[in-house]
Amino acid sequence: MSRQRILSGVQPTGNLHLGNYFGAIRNWVEIQSQFENYFCVVDLHAITVPHNPATLAQDSYSIAALYLACGIDLQYANIFIQSHVSAHAELTWLLNCITPLNWLTDMIQYKEKAQKQGENVGVGLLDYPVLMAADILLYQADKVPVGEDQKQHIELTRDIVDRFNHLFGKGEKVLKSPEPLIRKEGARVMSLTDGTKKMSKSDPSELSRINLLDSPEEITKKIKKCKTDPQRGLVFDDPERPECNNLLTMYMLLSGKSKQEVADECADMGWGQFKPLLTETTINALKPIQEKYQAVMDDRGYLESVLRDGREKAEALAVSTLNEVKKAMGYSLPI
Ligand code: TYM
Repeated sequence: MSRQRILSGVQPTGNLHLGNYFGAIRNWVEIQSQFENYFCVVDLHAITVPHNPATLAQDSYSIAALYLACGIDLQYANIFIQSHVSAHAELTWLLNCITPLNWLTDMIQYKEKAQKQGENVGVGLLDYPVLMAADILLYQADKVPVGEDQKQHIELTRDIVDRFNHLFGKGEKVLKSPEPLIRKEGARVMSLTDGTKKMSKSDPSELSRINLLDSPEEITKKIKKCKTDPQRGLVFDDPERPECNNLLTMYMLLSGKSKQEVADECADMGWGQFKPLLTETTINALKPIQEKYQAVMDDRGYLESVLRDGREKAEALAVSTLNEVKKAMGYSLPI
């Protein structure tokens, strides 16, 4: 039996932080050997908010290098850049024409980002989830490993699949309905400056997040300044202490210890003892990723060859799905 397929991606907007790592990439690494995997750098999504043309290409390479540095294994996975496979943009157009406008205006992330941007919100921001649906559906992915904040977009993808198959499938499932894979721990890493807000690349404060490429000095400073509470004794799951829960969860994930082990270890600790422990654990956990990242970035030829191979495999599959979709919709195919 052939393996089930996975597709996921990260936007090349700014540095990757611990939320991206624990919500997405670490999970990709852990399960990759059981699946056929497609991991893309979603650079078309990156321009749905104002972007810097001078850094876009380099940022995309940097994210691809981070995938490798975090442990994505080319034996199981293809890594590619979304804009290198033009079928993504083309399928988006076809799906746009069967997606009701109110499905998109209802999306939580759209509402939040649109509010942040104020006036002149681009059509691309509204259309973001349809492009994401196209990413997933081109590869007929069975599973999509993401953080909690992307669940609604995958539900929308499933609605688009149902609508497409109903309208054009003639009883056949032309498109496959994907399932989200969201792990409980790390699905929603919170900001260091406010434990009720998600850690996010777009937070104006650098102190709110730890990036995978932060230096030991930056990590030390951010943890020293992070928000805590006046209580002694650290516990998980107290709704009155969101920062405490978040920092303990980060420690658990970075140290590889179980929840019970961390609960026992930290039950009597104060912040003065915990913060240096978290700092050291974070620095040690990120060091091997940072070293591998540097090695990959120093070998541009290798990175380019990875992306070329990834694109070739991705494109073959994407074009075949795109042709099935076009046939179902009644298009003639190029001769
Ligand atoms: P992006 O780049 O915003 O986020 C990449 C991944 O990181 C997860 N994530 C988090 N997880 C836990 N805690 C956080 N604080 C946190 N912040 C971000 C996101 O859930 C995501 O898994 N729309 C996608 C990119 C995308 C995509 C796709 C994903 C485009 N096409 C197709 C899967 C399949 C996004 O949010 O990117």
